Amino acid sequence: MKSIPQKGQDRASLLTEMENMKANDLRWRDGRNFSYVYFPGDEIVDTVKQAYQAFFSENALNPSAFPSLRRMESEVVAMSAHLLGGSEATRGSLTSGGTESILMAVKTARAWGQKHKQIAAPEIVLPATAHPAFHKACYYFGLKAIVVPIGTDFRADVPAMRAAINPNTVMIVGSAPAYPQGVIDPIRELAALAQEKEILCHVDACVGGFMLPFLRQTGYPIADFDLSVPGVTSISADIHKYGYAAKGASVVLYRDAELRKLQFYVYTPWSGGIYGSPTMTGTRPGGAIAAAWAALHHIGLEGYQRLARQTKTTADRLRSAIEAIPELKILGQPDMTILCMASDVVDIYEVGDELAVKGDWFIDRQQLPPSLHLTITPAHEAVLDEFIADLKAAVKKSRQLTLNKLSKMAQVNAIKGMKKLLPEQLFERFQSFAAKNAKVGGKRSAAMYGMMGELQGSGNLDDLIREFLDQLMG
Ligand SMILES: Cc1ncc(COP(=O)(O)O)c(C=O)c1O
Repeated sequence: MKSIPQKGQDRASLLTEMENMKANDLRWRDGRNFSYVYFPGDEIVDTVKQAYQAFFSENALNPSAFPSLRRMESEVVAMSAHLLGGSEATRGSLTSGGTESILMAVKTARAWGQKHKQIAAPEIVLPATAHPAFHKACYYFGLKAIVVPIGTDFRADVPAMRAAINPNTVMIVGSAPAYPQGVIDPIRELAALAQEKEILCHVDACVGGFMLPFLRQTGYPIADFDLSVPGVTSISADIHKYGYAAKGASVVLYRDAELRKLQFYVYTPWSGGIYGSPTMTGTRPGGAIAAAWAALHHIGLEGYQRLARQTKTTADRLRSAIEAIPELKILGQPDMTILCMASDVVDIYEVGDELAVKGDWFIDRQQLPPSLHLTITPAHEAVLDEFIADLKAAVKKSRQLTLNKLSKMAQVNAIKGMKKLLPEQLFERFQSFAAKNAKVGGKRSAAMYGMMGELQGSGNLDDLIREFLDQLMG
């Protein structure tokens, strides 16, 4: 087991060692990634980094201790509210990310249901595409998540959502856009439904909140999705995604102060003092708040519009290129800069593997149906032609029945057979297979994803993922 070194390491060798550790990391600066890092260019990143460093030690736990942070936080919330259709009544909080914003919105909905409707067993109604953070929130806070299948256009199915509402429902959810296919749910209809049923309506604009308004400002038709829509009672938007802030910055905004007050946690009888906390976390890094404030001020509306246009143009070019490849298709009608590609002809996971092997492209795999997920960022403009060429080659290669594919098919078939006969042994084999994959850190994962598809809904998959995370975290 590793222990803390007896003697401290000198700064130069330490920093070199850490830089070397990055050798196998995602090459986001070269636009190889289609998730996790939103890179707007070095000038912006360096400025935001300096802002972070300037407030590296400050702590936003106690707002009166650092008026600088309090001012920056309230200005970030105000600028976000202004951007997202808020009014003078709008209130919000800065959180550590999309998940925390969603946790807060769900917890607030629970408190609202208790206070206004005496609901003891609260439920929320979600389209199947809603982010897992809502399920996490329900799990943490003891609500029931009712999942409603989406329509054939991958958007929330409003009549089906209506049918899922019952006297215990405290909130319905729509996404702008939803992560899997990048399409915006019919927010106007969902919000009107919430109004009619006298319940809350949360819009998850975590990925779209700092892209959709700028696209609209530059002339793209964007469906209404924000707080200006009657019936929308809260919205989440991440500044650490298309806002280009440092990781650890999102906002959750509420219709009014009454709703936000239900989010706060207070414990007064503590001998350590009266304790009040707006969000999940206690200590909050000043750096993340400063970086968010700096990004919004430094980039400005014009900068965001320029980056949004550049990203959307790149996404549209890529979409056309994908649609021109006969074996591939785009799922849904993407409203923003997220694309989801699938195939009825080739194994799309094989295409993902070939892209990883050929060009070090790092692309997230999706399921139900199998697909690859592409979040386009400003960094992709420069590498678009190379990516398209590699994509064509990857599709061609996937058509050939390679040895890889054969062995994958054999493995999947073996799993299929075993699933019927020997679930216990199957589980063990799959476990060791997944563990081996994780350790090797190889670029090929099609076989694993194929098998995961087979195990979907069997209960074993949940255990496997837990095991997998346990191994991954060390
Ligand atoms: C639509 C949507 N909601 C929520 C989240 C969660 O955000 P985070 O990873 O910052 O917690 C994401 C992340 O991609 C997202 O796309």
